Amino acid sequence: MRQVSVREFGPPSVLEVVDAPDPTPGPGEVLVDVKAAHVLWVETAVRRGDGRDWFPLRAPYVPGTGVAGLEVGTGRRVVGHTGLGGGYADRVVVDADRLVALPDEVGFGAAAALVHDATTAQALFEVLQVDRQDHVLVIGASGGLGLVSLQLTRRRARSVVALARDGRKIARIEALGFDVVDTEAPDWPSAVRERLPDGADVVLDNVGGALGAQAVPLLAYGGRWAAHGRPGGSFSSIDEEQLTARGQRVVGLSAAQLPPERRTRLIAEGLAMAARGELTPVVGQTFPLEKAADAHAAIEQRTVFGATLLVP
Ligand SMILES: NC(=O)c1ccc[n+]([C@@H]2O[C@H](COP(=O)([O-])OP(=O)(O)OC[C@H]3O[C@@H](n4cnc5c(N)ncnc54)[C@H](OP(=O)(O)O)[C@@H]3O)[C@@H](O)[C@H]2O)c1
Repeated sequence: MRQVSVREFGPPSVLEVVDAPDPTPGPGEVLVDVKAAHVLWVETAVRRGDGRDWFPLRAPYVPGTGVAGLEVGTGRRVVGHTGLGGGYADRVVVDADRLVALPDEVGFGAAAALVHDATTAQALFEVLQVDRQDHVLVIGASGGLGLVSLQLTRRRARSVVALARDGRKIARIEALGFDVVDTEAPDWPSAVRERLPDGADVVLDNVGGALGAQAVPLLAYGGRWAAHGRPGGSFSSIDEEQLTARGQRVVGLSAAQLPPERRTRLIAEGLAMAARGELTPVVGQTFPLEKAADAHAAIEQRTVFGATLLVP
């Protein structure tokens, strides 16, 4: 079988397709014939050698943790989380208790994207106790997680404002029925204030950096902020004085790092929502396995929209 290996930390060109023997499942494991593997922004960061504090990987390694495909032997359609990596491959071994059977209504691509985006979005909504009273602000609404989070607000929040840039991406988010503020417009925070005069009760920050910092004053008194996003260069932070004075709360990346049991439960719930038509992961682009370097480059060049997949 083929798999994509990170030869050494560096630019996308360090991703290379190598031949390897089929992995052999041990007790409690299942061999999956991969039909779609999710490609995450964070996997591009790790490949660059960034984030080694959180991901103690040594090259060479095979990235990819969200896969959907056929269980070898039974032909059952499944989706699951591989644990540490190995997903950018024709075949991968997955713990049986990290696999969920796919409902007929959900395709392999949507399922692979749900493994991360739907589980993280649900986990953040749970931790921040988002409810029908809350006005939500989503920073970085064009990404996979952003687009799923927007959709979850339809049933779980009072209103949502999406922050994005790039006319074509903004038009696509608006076509999904969401109100978008363009963060490249001068004084964009005023446009948010017009919509949310008392501020946002919940901010889901998929970006951090300068954009996240500009949004901090938009958090309402008593508001909750998820600072799990870092493509802008750093996680957002709010100083203690503001948190205390305004009764606000911040959760960090740990709110999105899920133990296997909880992740598997949330994958199943995400699939059920998708099967009922309540959640439609937006798969913006797919690449063949041998073009994994192009997939990483596209994410880094910010030409992508929604989820990115590799299709062996
Ligand atoms: N996906 C998950 O399940 C998950 C789990 C835990 C944590 N996270 C974190 O959440 C964040 C978003 O993840 P994702 O999977 O949704 O990624 P994604 O689909 O690649 O989306 C990335 C978002 O960040 C923006 N962005 C990209 N590069 C940027 C830059 N250089 N400066 C400013 N904004 C930039 C993109 O907006 P443009 O359209 O403007 O480029 C897009 O909205 C990441 O930090 C990720 O590590 C995600």
